[in-house]
Amino acid sequence: MEGPQTCSPHVLLFSAPAQSHINVLLKLAELLSLSSVRVTFLTTEHSHRQLTHHSDVLRRFSRFPAFQFRTISDGLPLSHPRTFSHHLLEMLNSFVSVTKPLFRGMLVSGHFGSDLTCLILDGFFSFLFDLDDDFVKVPIFCFRAFGACSSWTILSVPNLIKQGQLPIKGEEDMDRILNNVPGMENLLRCRDLPSFCRVADPNNDPILQFIVNAFIRSTKFDALIMNSFEDLEGPILSNIRTLCPKLYSIGPLHALLKTKLSHETESLNNLWEVDGSCLSWLDNQSPGSVIYVSFGSITVMSNRELMEFWHGLVNSGRKFLWVIRPDLVMGKNGEIEIPPELEEGTKQRGYMVGWAPQEKVLSHEAVGGFLTHSGWNSTLESIVEGKPMICWSYKYDQQVNSRFVSNVWNLGLDMKDLCDRETITKMVNDVMVNRKEEFMRSATEMANLARQSVNPGGSSLVNFDCLIEDIRILSQQKMPNNNN
Ligand code: UDX
Repeated sequence: MEGPQTCSPHVLLFSAPAQSHINVLLKLAELLSLSSVRVTFLTTEHSHRQLTHHSDVLRRFSRFPAFQFRTISDGLPLSHPRTFSHHLLEMLNSFVSVTKPLFRGMLVSGHFGSDLTCLILDGFFSFLFDLDDDFVKVPIFCFRAFGACSSWTILSVPNLIKQGQLPIKGEEDMDRILNNVPGMENLLRCRDLPSFCRVADPNNDPILQFIVNAFIRSTKFDALIMNSFEDLEGPILSNIRTLCPKLYSIGPLHALLKTKLSHETESLNNLWEVDGSCLSWLDNQSPGSVIYVSFGSITVMSNRELMEFWHGLVNSGRKFLWVIRPDLVMGKNGEIEIPPELEEGTKQRGYMVGWAPQEKVLSHEAVGGFLTHSGWNSTLESIVEGKPMICWSYKYDQQVNSRFVSNVWNLGLDMKDLCDRETITKMVNDVMVNRKEEFMRSATEMANLARQSVNPGGSSLVNFDCLIEDIRILSQQKMPNNNN
C-alpha cells in the first residue's frame, strides 16, 4: 500500500516568468500545499534564479516535504534583458520555439512524475497547447493573472474588430464610447481598451493576435481560476462563465492566503532586492499622510515623465514613498540625480526605494493613497487595504483596470494618457485631501467586501474549497483500486 503522501493529489503549476504572475501563483501554490496537495512549481530558469536569490521561498516551502521547484529554459541567453515592455515579441517567439517543445516532451516523458492529478497553467502560456492536443492525459485548469473586467474586454476584441469598432482612428477617436462589450455599455472609451488595441491593423498585429488568441484558448481548458471575487466583478465573471462554465473566482489570493496562515509570515516572492527601510520611515509619518507611488515590475517611463511625476509630487506638498526600480527610466540604469530645484522638497517629504515590501506598505496606517500603474495585483492589494488610487496605466490590462477603479468602483482617479506636473499635483491633493472622505468611504466598503469574500462563508473561500475538493476527486478517480 503506498504511503499517505503519494495518495494526496499532485498538481503541476506552471507560472509565466513575470513578477506578478510568480507572486500570485506562489501564493496559490502555498494555499494548495496547506490543503495537503503536492505541488510541483515550474517556471523559467532565469526567473527561478532571481526568485531564489531575492526571496526566502526555498526556506518557506521546505515545510512542505512534497513541494518541489522545477525549471525550464526560455531559450534566451542569460544576458537577455527579458523586459515585457520592450522584448515581448522576442520572448514569445523563444517560448514557442524552445519552451513549448521542451515542456511537451517533459509531459509526455513523465518528467514531473507519473502521478499528476492536473495541471494549473498560467494563462500566459495557453499557447503551449494546441486545440487538438490529445497527449495530455490530465485536466488542465487555466489561471488568469488579470481581472475579469480586462479579461472579458480582451475576449470581446474579435467582435469589436468584426463590428468595425476597431481599429481606433487616431487621437481624435480615443474618447469614442464603445457599446459592444456586453455588460460594459457606455463605459469604455477607445482609450480604455487594453494598450495593444492601439494599432492600425488589429487583424495582423502579432502582439494583439497573440494575447487575444491566448485568452480565447484559455477558455477552452477544463476550468478557469481567477484572482477576483464576486462582489467586485460578479456580473463579468458570469459573462466569462458563458465561455467556460467551470470558473473558480478565489481572489484576492494574497488575502485568502493570509487567512490560512496562523501567524503573520512574510509571503514575499520578490525577483528584486526588497528595501524594508521604508517601513521605518513610514513609522515616523502621521496616519494617512503618505502617498505610495509604484508602477509595478514592467512599466518603463521617459526621463521627462519621471520629472513630471517628481515635480508633481513635490509641488503637492504631500509626503511620498516612491519605488524607483533600477530599470524604471529609459536609458538610465539606476543612476538618477535629484534636480536641484527638487532637492529640498524631496528631502523634507520624499523617500525612495528600488523595491518595496508592497503588501506591508499598503497595509501601513501612514499610507493614505496609492499612485499606481493599475497592475491587477497592485489593484487588488490596494482594494484589500482600503487605499484610494490614482491610476497611470501603462500597458496591457491596466487601461481597463484604471477605468473600473475610477468609473465603476469609485476607488480613485484615472490619470490615463496624461503626465504633467499640474495634473499630478491636483490628483494627489484630490485623493489625499479634497475628495478623501468620498474615496475613503467606497474604499473602506470594498475592502470589507474583499475581506468577507476570503473569510468563512465568503464566495472566494467557498470556491477555493470547491477547487480543492474537485482536485481530490480527480485524484481518487486515478487511484488504481478505484472502480469508477
Ligand atoms: C503585470 C502587468 O503589468 C499587469 O498589468 C498585470 O495585471 C499583471 O502582470 P505588474 O506590472 O508586475 O504585472 O503589476 P502588478 O500586477 O501590480 O504586480 C506587481 C507585484 O509586485 C505586486 O504583487 C506587488 O505587491 C509587487 N511589488 C511591486 C512589490 O512587491 N514591491 C514593489 O516595490 C512593487
